[in-house]
Amino acid sequence: MAGPRGLLPLCLLAFYLAGFSFIRGQGLSKRCDVKTTLSTHVPCTSCAAVKKQTCPPGWLRELPDQIAQDCRYEVQLGGSMVSMSGCRRKCRKYMVEKACCPGYWGSQCYECPGGAQTPCNGHGTCLDGIERNGTCVCQENFRGSACQECQDPNRFGPDCQSVCSCVHGVCNHGPRGDGSCRCFAGYTGPHCDQELPICQKLRCPQNTQCSAEAPSCRCLPGYTQQGSECQAPNPCWLSPCSPLAQCSVSPTGQAQCHCPENYHGDGMVCLPKDPCTDNLAGCPSNSTLCVYQKPGQASCICRSGLVSIKSNASGGCQAFCSPYSCDRSATCQVTADGKTSCVCKQGEVGDGRACYGHLLQEVQKAMQTGRVFLQLRVAMAMMDQGCREILTTAGPFTVLVPSIPFSSSRTMNASLAQQLCRQHIIAGQHILEDTKSQQTRRWWTLAGQEITVAFNQFTKYSYKYKDQPQQTFNIYKPNNVAANGIFHVVTALRWQPPSGISGDPKKTISQILASTEAFSRFETILENCGLPSILDGPGPFTVFAPSNEAVDSLRDGRLIYLFTTVSSVGEGAVGMGVPGPPR
Ligand SMILES: *[C@@H]1O[C@H](CO)[C@@H](O)[C@H](O)[C@H]1NC(C)=O
Ligand SMILES: *[C@@H]1O[C@H](CO)[C@@H](O)[C@H](O)[C@H]1NC(C)=O
Ligand SMILES: *[C@@H]1O[C@H](CO)[C@@H](O)[C@H](O)[C@H]1NC(C)=O
Ligand SMILES: *[C@@H]1O[C@H](CO)[C@@H](O)[C@H](O)[C@H]1NC(C)=O
Repeated sequence: MAGPRGLLPLCLLAFYLAGFSFIRGQGLSKRCDVKTTLSTHVPCTSCAAVKKQTCPPGWLRELPDQIAQDCRYEVQLGGSMVSMSGCRRKCRKYMVEKACCPGYWGSQCYECPGGAQTPCNGHGTCLDGIERNGTCVCQENFRGSACQECQDPNRFGPDCQSVCSCVHGVCNHGPRGDGSCRCFAGYTGPHCDQELPICQKLRCPQNTQCSAEAPSCRCLPGYTQQGSECQAPNPCWLSPCSPLAQCSVSPTGQAQCHCPENYHGDGMVCLPKDPCTDNLAGCPSNSTLCVYQKPGQASCICRSGLVSIKSNASGGCQAFCSPYSCDRSATCQVTADGKTSCVCKQGEVGDGRACYGHLLQEVQKAMQTGRVFLQLRVAMAMMDQGCREILTTAGPFTVLVPSIPFSSSRTMNASLAQQLCRQHIIAGQHILEDTKSQQTRRWWTLAGQEITVAFNQFTKYSYKYKDQPQQTFNIYKPNNVAANGIFHVVTALRWQPPSGISGDPKKTISQILASTEAFSRFETILENCGLPSILDGPGPFTVFAPSNEAVDSLRDGRLIYLFTTVSSVGEGAVGMGVPGPPR
């Protein structure tokens, strides 16, 4: 049986494919997809069927075909399981798994805040990767969507370790700040702690500066004079926010940045919301893919080969058995892992898309399926009446199936069929490859005749029986598959029964030997030994009967030895006859 088992990925080769693209307003986006090549063997089947066998859906044939004759398959024939040597095809699958390069995140692989080279400005860890949302997890001491600020606004320096010391002034704070102080009017010194008496006398209003050299009150840089007051500049004019964010002024005169809807971040940095990074937006992961559409919006689509349940992929997708995907005699099943599989019925082999029964069934199928140019009625009658049992319960065999017109002058009957059928059967599966090899092959039929098969450019394969060299048979349609072997359609039937004895269930072994001229010498030997009466007895016996030719070849003293010794060996027919079951 060819079951769905056995798709075992054998090798994995993975490497990165890098791709750049520029997303408007988002900086670089960079994918590092992982390309994987998987290979597998499809289940073992008959070597004659393997060429027609296809790879499972989604898998490709190796080119050129890679078929190994290194496996065995089993088929239930009659009451027993028969194991046969078979072939299997190698298939390949290319898989591209989308992935972001390090420092990029989300289904669109946007760059992490702070840039992919220094994600989170080097002060945090970016949640990068295709299924994560690009959030910076800042180190202690840092904050901000890109970890661009010190946790404590009164600190400065690359590590935010230094503490500002401006007493009456504004500190140049933050990781990029140097801690320098801008003094309010009336103060000076590195820490703005020294009073300037000249300036103090002026009593400068808020937001003004005063220097000792030219004592007067001037607005702080950027501030504008409005009557007697210096007004703070609109903090938003300095564009402190992300281009996507909205800027507003707080009651204390600070800029406030707000990311638009469906973006997240502190406003200095705004990242689009990718619902696929949030539990795949609810798309069932075993059967669907999450597809990002725009910030805040995504949808589910079915994985390839699946269809949605209730026409909405958000509810999950499933495999389905499409009509005509399996052989007519096979059944389509949805397997536990959510795939479909065509399963041939018991006693047949194949991949489910094509199933083959035993030899008799397959010849009958060939006869019935309207292949008008095949005339198999006579052959079918011969096989059915002559060797039904072995063709349906044993194997493997190669059968030569004659395609000949039905003629009333030569009719098949059971006794004739029994004589002829085994002349058309060879043990083993003998596939005739189209290799144009000139090599002559030798086969032996079950009736014991030797056949030589020759290849010829025009007639392709032809063969002769050694005992009937005047007749040439052509092989017309080789390599037809069956569960327990193969058959070649040939152009003629060998009507001549095998020479020598013909069996007869109504006669004893002794009677058959007596009526066959070829065993007259053996008869004499048996009589000399006083044994013929045993072979008339109840039996059963298996007798290896030497022909006259064989007895004649015993020219030396061996014959005399047989005459004198065998009779004294003891009970039974030791030496030439072996007691045992028939056949
Ligand atoms: C980003 O993902 C992290 C961890 O998965 C989560 O804690 C955080 O809330 C997410 N942020 C947003 C804005 O979705
Ligand atoms: C599919 O179902 C989801 C939730 O189950 C729903 O939000 C969505 O609108 C549905 N889509 C369609 C096209 O019906
Ligand atoms: C996906 O998983 C769910 C629940 O785990 C299961 O019911 C469903 O059959 C699975 N679908 C496929 C296609 O594997
Ligand atoms: C079967 O056919 C052969 C040849 O046609 C003939 O000689 C023989 O008598 C037939 N036997 C029976 C039982 O009809």
